[in-house]
Amino acid sequence: MSEKKFKTIQYLDRNESQYGPSPKCYEFLKNVSIEDLSWYSRDFSRGVKSRLSERIANDFGIKESQIILSYGSEDILKQLIHRYVQRGEKVLIPKEAWWYYKKVAYEIGGFNVEYPMTKGKFEGVDSFIYDVDKMISIYDRERPRVVIIASPNNPTGNRINKEDLGKFLDACRGAIVMIDEAYWGFGSTDNSYVKPYLDEFPNLIICRTFSKYYALAGSRIGFSFAGNNLEELKDYTTRYLGYNLISEKLALIALDDSEYYEKVTKKMQEDKDMFYKEFSALEGFKPYKSFSNFILVDMPLNIRKDLNKFLKERNLLIKFLDEEAFKTEARITLGTKEQNSYLIESIKDFYK
Ligand SMILES: Cc1ncc(COP(=O)(O)O)c(C=O)c1O
Repeated sequence: MSEKKFKTIQYLDRNESQYGPSPKCYEFLKNVSIEDLSWYSRDFSRGVKSRLSERIANDFGIKESQIILSYGSEDILKQLIHRYVQRGEKVLIPKEAWWYYKKVAYEIGGFNVEYPMTKGKFEGVDSFIYDVDKMISIYDRERPRVVIIASPNNPTGNRINKEDLGKFLDACRGAIVMIDEAYWGFGSTDNSYVKPYLDEFPNLIICRTFSKYYALAGSRIGFSFAGNNLEELKDYTTRYLGYNLISEKLALIALDDSEYYEKVTKKMQEDKDMFYKEFSALEGFKPYKSFSNFILVDMPLNIRKDLNKFLKERNLLIKFLDEEAFKTEARITLGTKEQNSYLIESIKDFYK
């Protein structure tokens, strides 16, 4: 194999898609109309926020008013916390979490309390696991205003099982509960639980994004399903002049091309299986089960700096985590088949 297969840096560090969105999205962009660029949407005068929220509501059999649109799911997280958390109030988050969960409460004078995950095996692969009894006992003790669960979680890649989730939601009726499903789709495309959960838990908000599964991170669009206790949030987030029409159209096109996304996900699943096998065979490396578009790998502490340098010289960038919960792990965003096999070959070459 040539030493430097790629001429430019391959960014396998931020959970962005390396396959890109449906080719139909590019077709649309080549033919953007003056209306898409120069006009506001007229959807609000029809009594809905937008065509996208209307479409999602129809697909899920949910009222359109329960669909919230946002500038990605970062945006809805920020709006939720800023709207509901007062100075001195608590937000309960996983200890092993996306870095922004750790920051957002502090933006408005609130603060975090954390619940830790445990570890075990899932289908024969090491896995992080939501410890629901511990979560409930921390919830009871701390009485947070908002609770966040990420499923699948970043950077651990695990998801919460339905039984545990039901038990936890039942225990947390006194708070607002956000399930961050930014990585929905890579492990399963099941949606059957959304409406029953919303009906049963009016304090629940389930957040999704077009950034990950639909590979539209740059167009910054996300949506959420909001329970009936979140009326104020629905008003707070509504934009009467509409949203980004181009992003909305891209999202609608993506929703219509499930065939493309299923194909990409299948390739990624094959590569996850390849990574489990390859990393398990390397001494000192431990891959974790992932339902996402990335995989977390524990590796020997003493090679991190040199391995990072070695991979960068080959134009490969992965995320070496350096935070309290993760001192020896790296998070690898799944690339194309070519990128993934070059990465694993390069790690093997590092030891030669
Ligand atoms: C767990 C999690 N939630 C939300 C986001 C934000 O995604 P976006 O704002 O692009 O929807 C990210 C981004 O990486 C993430 O890892």
